[in-house]
Amino acid sequence: MPRATTVYIDLSAIGDNIAELKSSLGDSRFMAVVKADAYGHGAATVAQYIEGMVDAFAVGFTEEALELRAAGVGKPILILEGPHSAADVELATKEDLWLALHNLSQVEWCLRYGSALSHIWIKIDTGMHRLGFSPAQLPVVRQSLLDAGCSNLTLMSHLAAAELPESPLSKRQLNQWREIVADWPNGISLCNSAASRLGLAAKDNWARLGYAMYGGLIKNMASNSALKPAMHFRTAVLAIRQIAAGESVGYGGHWTAQRDSVIATLPVGYGDGYPWSARNGTPIEINGRMAPLVGRVSMDMLTIDVTDCGAVEIGTPAVLWGQNPGIDEVADACGTIGYELMTRMTGRAPRCYDI
Ligand SMILES: Cc1ncc(COP(=O)(O)O)c(C=O)c1O
Repeated sequence: MPRATTVYIDLSAIGDNIAELKSSLGDSRFMAVVKADAYGHGAATVAQYIEGMVDAFAVGFTEEALELRAAGVGKPILILEGPHSAADVELATKEDLWLALHNLSQVEWCLRYGSALSHIWIKIDTGMHRLGFSPAQLPVVRQSLLDAGCSNLTLMSHLAAAELPESPLSKRQLNQWREIVADWPNGISLCNSAASRLGLAAKDNWARLGYAMYGGLIKNMASNSALKPAMHFRTAVLAIRQIAAGESVGYGGHWTAQRDSVIATLPVGYGDGYPWSARNGTPIEINGRMAPLVGRVSMDMLTIDVTDCGAVEIGTPAVLWGQNPGIDEVADACGTIGYELMTRMTGRAPRCYDI
C-alpha cells in the first residue's frame, strides 16, 4: 500500500473562488496568477481547468509560460518579470506572450520587435521599490514603445501592503498611482487578491489574482469566509505509542510530556513540504479534533499528541492543512505565510486532483 501522505487539489474550489472573486471586480478583467507552479497547485492542470473562466494568465518568467503553452493553454500569458534577454522577447513574439517591462534594457530589446509584440505592460514603481520605472521615466518609455509600433500598452504597479489600505505606505502608493493614471490614456492594473477584495480593482482594466483564487485568506478580511481552500494536505497515522510524563519526543527533545501521553507518528515531514519551523502546538486535525504537534518535525515524520483525541490507531486519517486547520493558521504557527507553505511543496507527496 502506498504511503498515505497526499496533496489533494480541489479544482472545483478554484473555480468557485474565481466566481466569488469576480463579484468584487466590476468590469475589470481577471488575470489568474499561476506562477510558481500555480502556487504549488500544478500550473498546467490548473490553467487547463480554469482557462474558460479567466481572461489571461500571469507567470514569473518565460519558461513558466512555455510550460503552459506546451500544455495547450492558448489564452494570453503575462510575464511578470519581463524578458531576461532579447531571446525572451523573440519567444514572446512567437508564443504571443505579454511582457511586463521594468528596465531600459528590456525596452531596448522590445523596440527591435515593435508591433510583433501584441501587448506590453509597463511596470511603475509607486513605492514598493522592488521593480519598475520611476514615474519620471514613464513618458519617455511610453513614447519610445509607441514610436516602435507597440501600441497596446497597460500600466501596472504592485502594492507592498495591499491588505492594509490605510497604512502610510499604502496611502503613499495609492496617491502616487492615482496621480500617474490620471494622465495615462491606456489600460491600468494595480490590484492583487487583497486589493481586489477591498474593492480597489473596479478601476483596473486588469486585476491580477493569485492567493485568494487558491482559497488563501487575506488577513483580517471579512469576505474571506466565501473562499474555499483548494489544497488539502493529508496523511494517516504510521505508529502510535504511550509515553510517560517527563519523557521527551523527537530530535533534540524539544517537547517533554507533562502527563502520561499518547503520541501518534505521521509519515510526513519537511521533505514533503511540512515546515521544520512548525512550533509545538501547531494544530493537526485527527478524529475531528485538533491535535498539537509535539517535538521537532523530521524529514519524513512528525509527532502529535493524541491523548485527548479519542480512538486513534495506525491508519487513522489526519489533515495537515485544508479546511481545518486552514493553511493560514498553520503558517501563523510556523512563523511564515500561507503563500510560502503552498509554494514550497516538494513534490515528494503525490498530488491528486478532485473536480
Ligand atoms: C506583480 C504581482 N501581481 C499580482 C500578484 C498576485 O498576488 P496575490 O497572490 O496576492 O493575489 C503577485 C504575486 O506575488 C505579483 O507579484
